[in-house]
Amino acid sequence: MKDVKLADGIYWVGAIDWDIRFCGSYTTPIGTTYNAYLILDEKNVLIDTVKTGFHSELLERIRNIIDPSEIDYVIVNHTEKDHAGALLEVMRESKDAEIVISDKGKESLLKYYGAWPARAVDTGDALKIGERTLTFIKAQMLHWPDNMCTYSEKEGILFSNDPFGQHIASSERFDDEIPSEKLMEHAARYFAAIVMPYSAVVLKKIGEIKNMGIRINAIAPAHGLIWRKAPEKIIEAYAKWASGEAENKAVIIYDTMWSSTAEMAKLISRGMEKNNIQVRLFNLRNSDWTEIAKEVMESKAVLVGSPALNSGMYPTVAGFLHYIRGLRPRNKMWFAFSSYGWGGGAVKAIKEELSRGRFQVIDTLEVKYAPGKKDIEECYRFGEDIAAMIRGEDK
Ligand code: FEO
Repeated sequence: MKDVKLADGIYWVGAIDWDIRFCGSYTTPIGTTYNAYLILDEKNVLIDTVKTGFHSELLERIRNIIDPSEIDYVIVNHTEKDHAGALLEVMRESKDAEIVISDKGKESLLKYYGAWPARAVDTGDALKIGERTLTFIKAQMLHWPDNMCTYSEKEGILFSNDPFGQHIASSERFDDEIPSEKLMEHAARYFAAIVMPYSAVVLKKIGEIKNMGIRINAIAPAHGLIWRKAPEKIIEAYAKWASGEAENKAVIIYDTMWSSTAEMAKLISRGMEKNNIQVRLFNLRNSDWTEIAKEVMESKAVLVGSPALNSGMYPTVAGFLHYIRGLRPRNKMWFAFSSYGWGGGAVKAIKEELSRGRFQVIDTLEVKYAPGKKDIEECYRFGEDIAAMIRGEDK
C-alpha cells in the first residue's frame, strides 16, 4: 500500500468506496472516498476517520506509517457516519487519544458513538502539537450543526471536511491528477445536492475565512480529491454557486402520460435552441435527480411540465418539486406547462408547490389534448420568449 503524502509529515489515510451509488439523498455514480489525514509531530494527530465498515483500510494505511497507539489526538471535524463511523475501532487502537471536536459534535458524539474524553473547541481555538499549531474554524450547517474545519498554518492546509468535496472514487488523490472539467462537474453535483440549501452560510463563511487572512495552499476535503494545485478555483466556484449566479442555460423537467407533455417539452426546447440557448431535458421517469439538481443550479430558467392527473400534477413531478424546493436554488426563472384531457389542474398544482419555496412562476402554457398546429407554434414561441428572458431581453 503506497503512502499518500500531502506534505512532510502529513498523509492521506482514508478509504475508497468504489461501490456506493446512493448516499443519503443523492446519487454517487462513480463512488466516493472517505478521507482521513494523519499528521506526525511531537503529538500525532488523526483528522477524521472513515465510514462504518471501512476501518480496516484506514488502520492499515495508518499502520504503514505509525502504530495507531501512537496517535495522541483524533480530530472529529464532523460526526456523520461516513467520517466518524470508524471511531470505535480507532479509539480502541489508539488507546489514550483525546478527541477534539466542536461543541455540537460533542453532543452527537455521545449519542452516536460513545463516551470518550472529548475537548470541545470553537472558532479560533488552537492546538499546539509540536512545530505545528492547528486552528479550528466552525462550519455550522455546512452541512450539519457540528461541522468544523481544521487549519494547519505551517503548510497552509485547510482540512475542510464536507465542504469542497466531490464524490469521486479514483486511484488519484489530487486535483492536478484528473481532468479539471471532470473534477468541477463532480464538485458542482456535490454542491447542488448537499451544500446548496446553505448557500447563505457558504458566502458568510468564505468572507469570514478571507477576513482571518489565512494563507490557503491546499484544501483537503473529506470526500474526493485534494485541491493542491488550485484551491482558489473551488473557493471561487463555491462563491459563484452560492450566490445563484447561473449560465444562459435552461432545464426542462417533466413527466408525460401519453407523450403530449413530452412533445411540448421538445417543442419548447427547439424554440430555445433556435435562439442559441443551451437546454437539457429530463424525463423524471428515467433521470437522475442529483444530475437534475446540478442542472437547475447552473441554469437561469427552469421549466416544469406535467400531465394533469386527478386535477393535479403527476406524483413524480410532485416528488421532484418537493425535493428541489428543499435544495433552495437561488435566482431562477420558473415556468410551468402541461397537456390535459379535460379538467386540467397540473399547472395550478406546480405553481402552488413552487410558491411554498417562494419560487415565482413567470409564465405558463397549457395544451388541451395533444398539441395541434396552433399549439405547436405556441410551444415554440413559449421557448423563444424564455430564451429572450434568459438573455435579459424584454419578452
Ligand atoms: Fe456530512 Fe460526508 O458527511
